[in-house]
Amino acid sequence: MGLLRFSSTLLASFITLGQATNLYVSSYNGSITTLELTSQNGSYQLRSVYENAGCSPNPSWLNLDQPHGYLYCQDEGLTVANGSLSSFSVAEDGELTLVDKAATITGPVNSVIYGNRTGLRSIALAHYAGSAVSSWTLSPNGTFSFLQSEFFTLAQPGPVPSRQDAPHPHETILDPTGQFILVPDLGADLVRIFGFDATTERLTELTPLKVVPGSGPRHGAFWTPDGVSGGNSTTFLYIVTELGQTVTSYAVSYPAAGGLAFEEVYTSKTYGANRTEPAGTAPAEVAISPDNRFLVISNRNDSAFSIQSPGADNSSSVELSDSLSTFQLNQDGTLTFRQLAPAGGSYPRQFSLNKVGDLVAVGLQYSGRVVIFKRDVESGLVGDSVGVVQGLGNVTCVVWDE
Ligand SMILES: *[C@@H]1O[C@H](CO)[C@@H](O)[C@H](O)[C@H]1NC(C)=O
Ligand SMILES: *[C@@H]1O[C@H](CO)[C@@H](O)[C@H](O)[C@H]1NC(C)=O
Ligand SMILES: *[C@@H]1O[C@H](CO)[C@@H](O)[C@H](O)[C@H]1NC(C)=O
Ligand SMILES: *[C@@H]1O[C@H](CO)[C@@H](O)[C@H](O)[C@H]1NC(C)=O
Ligand SMILES: *[C@@H]1O[C@H](CO)[C@@H](O)[C@H](O)[C@H]1NC(C)=O
Ligand SMILES: *[C@@H]1O[C@H](CO)[C@@H](O)[C@H](O)[C@H]1NC(C)=O
Ligand SMILES: *[C@@H]1O[C@H](CO)[C@@H](O)[C@H](O)[C@H]1NC(C)=O
Ligand SMILES: *[C@@H]1O[C@H](CO)[C@@H](O)[C@H](O)[C@H]1NC(C)=O
Ligand SMILES: *[C@@H]1O[C@H](CO)[C@@H](O)[C@H](O)[C@H]1NC(C)=O
Ligand SMILES: *[C@@H]1O[C@H](CO)[C@@H](O)[C@H](O)[C@H]1NC(C)=O
Repeated sequence: MGLLRFSSTLLASFITLGQATNLYVSSYNGSITTLELTSQNGSYQLRSVYENAGCSPNPSWLNLDQPHGYLYCQDEGLTVANGSLSSFSVAEDGELTLVDKAATITGPVNSVIYGNRTGLRSIALAHYAGSAVSSWTLSPNGTFSFLQSEFFTLAQPGPVPSRQDAPHPHETILDPTGQFILVPDLGADLVRIFGFDATTERLTELTPLKVVPGSGPRHGAFWTPDGVSGGNSTTFLYIVTELGQTVTSYAVSYPAAGGLAFEEVYTSKTYGANRTEPAGTAPAEVAISPDNRFLVISNRNDSAFSIQSPGADNSSSVELSDSLSTFQLNQDGTLTFRQLAPAGGSYPRQFSLNKVGDLVAVGLQYSGRVVIFKRDVESGLVGDSVGVVQGLGNVTCVVWDE
């Protein structure tokens, strides 16, 4: 719209200056860092432009409500009694301004925005250490207020007692119809399911999906092959387990009696059916590519590659790198392994694909860096790095603002 009013001279200078995209990075060291990625004639530059300590002490997850211009941050509160939820308004240049902040149950690690059937919107938080899910009502001005908390218990520890001493909700996922919230619970070997009241948006727990005992479900993603919710294709759910190192797909149906029903379709190691991960590998994040054809998983602690240390002056300086797995999504819900690519360092806890899917930003927790890689949209293959920012502390999440 604005572009049409540019004179050709202005337009030319706009192209020469290149296009800037902002990303937000959360780190356990207390900061949310704004990164700016500029691209000019096919070459990229990535730099840090702002830092904000409003989500301290231990930012663990970012949720960008891009259309409304607010960023929600969860702080895990690793060494204090409570976690926190904070909201920021987002300026055009990526500067953040704290709007609201409240103490929560300990250990929030993820969130999802849901609701809006009657204009009201809410945010649900998964509390790993707190064995709980909480929800908060959002206001159009970026403030929020406590709605509810649900605590879970385990009668006895799971098969991996060191990690399954208690329920550990790890993510909140909205189903494609927007009517259900799924919560992989690493401690309880369940994917908990919640419906919610259309008016109050209070959550109600429904019959959960039970996964393999000791597998520790962490994150998941929904996929509809035709890309249409409520369309003619089956809805599939992909669950990545951290302890079992697996990805499992389920065909999802919506019984008339309510809730969700699941039929397991396919399972493999996150390296694919015919390979084995090194012991100690802990898969973390999973995402469907924007073109709806590929599934990407990050593998922590597999040290599968030797890479040149990013930013090192000494070109023979090498280090071990963990990996990203790419699978092709098949219409029947099965997966075909396509590629294992270097993740750019150690502990790729989280990654985000940009809107067109030609770049992937990886948050490397133990390397304290964010690396952005090119990605071939057609083949789904992850390629060379186009930018790195180091010294970010224990990075937990990176999101694109576009
Ligand atoms: C842009 O890249 C092309 C191909 O690499 C090159 O021929 C051209 O000179 C570049 N233009 C500018 C303005 O850098
Ligand atoms: C903060 O933590 C304390 C101790 O666990 C707990 O009793 C309290 O309910 C928490 N506050 C909130 C707002 O969840
Ligand atoms: C929420 O619903 C209102 C009216 O029903 C609609 O105009 C608005 O776009 C919706 N917002 C989101 C974020 O879906
Ligand atoms: C934001 O909205 C809430 C709820 O509608 C209201 O209570 C509060 O006063 C508003 N705050 C500001 C600063 O406008
Ligand atoms: C579902 O299939 C029917 C019959 O082929 C077709 O008319 C309809 O457009 C399809 N709906 C969607 C959402 O693809
Ligand atoms: C993977 O292993 C299965 C079972 O052994 C075999 O049928 C299949 O052909 C193998 N696929 C590849 C790509 O090697
Ligand atoms: C990484 O894997 C090794 C085994 O290969 C294991 O000994 C180590 O505890 C793991 N480290 C972490 C931080 O999970
Ligand atoms: C470059 O790094 C290698 C491997 O770490 C090391 O052996 C070598 O001494 C370094 N060279 C310089 C000039 O620092
Ligand atoms: C932070 O990263 C270092 C490695 O750089 C690792 O040893 C440490 O356990 C990490 N701490 C947290 C809280 O993630
Ligand atoms: C966190 O890391 C950023 C980026 O390197 C640094 O500027 C900041 O001082 C660190 N914050 C803390 C509290 O250590």
